Amino acid sequence: MLTTSTELFAKALAEKYALGAFNVNNLEIIQGIMEGCRAKNAPVILQVSAGARQYAGPVFLRKLIEGAAEIYPEIPVVFHLDHGEDFEICKDCIDNGFTSVMIDGSKHPFEENIELTKKVVDYAHAKGVVVEGELGKLEGIEDDVKVASGEGSYTDPDQAAEFVEKTGVDSLAVAIGTSHGAYKFPPEVEAKLDFERCQKISELVKIPLVLHGASSVLQDFVAEINEFGGKVENSKGVPEEAITEASKYGVAKVNIDTDIRLGMTAAMRKNLAEMPDNFDVRKPLGAARDAVQKMVEHKIDILGCAGKI
Ligand code: G3H
Ligand code: 13P
Ligand code: ZN
Repeated sequence: MLTTSTELFAKALAEKYALGAFNVNNLEIIQGIMEGCRAKNAPVILQVSAGARQYAGPVFLRKLIEGAAEIYPEIPVVFHLDHGEDFEICKDCIDNGFTSVMIDGSKHPFEENIELTKKVVDYAHAKGVVVEGELGKLEGIEDDVKVASGEGSYTDPDQAAEFVEKTGVDSLAVAIGTSHGAYKFPPEVEAKLDFERCQKISELVKIPLVLHGASSVLQDFVAEINEFGGKVENSKGVPEEAITEASKYGVAKVNIDTDIRLGMTAAMRKNLAEMPDNFDVRKPLGAARDAVQKMVEHKIDILGCAGKI
């Protein structure tokens, strides 16, 4: 069943767990996630990035997600736009079946972020769609690019309160030490999130918080990728304990993409290496789908979201 996140978030905040928000790009990813949710009796957020829309096409993605909602009627599914860059992409999604959109104005100056976010909120709310905003910039190391770390980019609690009051957003993505991709922390550095800041923000804004860049960069996947000819070195993610803890400080949505990518790559590399004579692409894709399902079941346990339908 397609739904907005309002009630799901309210329950998650009250019972202190978080929903998994998984990035989807194709059939196998969606099937793996949905099977994982069915096995664990968990609601889910399926999120689509601009890159996913470009890769698969908006109509294919919408039909796949509508198909998921039909095939798994017992599972509440939020159909969410991830990192909407401008008003136009949000409008297009709001007009075409999404139940939730993110407007990511974090790269703009504060006042411009407010103005853009409010414009999306006004349009979305009139159509029953909920909105996630973002304040602060994620930090860390991504694709060999080291983004300087420092207090400056973390979300400021007082600004967050003003942002939420002026925009009317339904949830807020915060920067507390996570970053996108497989290289979140240098190998020698202890991976730590700023939960004190998170709690302060949560108390002030009183809406659900969202953790982007929250993959744990599961080391079994990394090892398998490297064993079968890959080269993913010195990668480090958010510790699983930190993900579990986040929901104590107001986080109700946890974004996961990299762990899907790593799991699928590991499974496909292994499958192709072990069956050199095979050219039925359903074999590596099926192995990738199974890996996604297993990983999602594990994540649901970490998030405390099992049995929350
Ligand atoms: O936050 C970004 C997600 O990992 C989506 O990545 O833009 O390559 O689809 P993408
Ligand atoms: P990861 O790269 O840590 O999976 O984060 C994904 C994300 O935040 C999508 O918006
Ligand atoms: Zn993100």
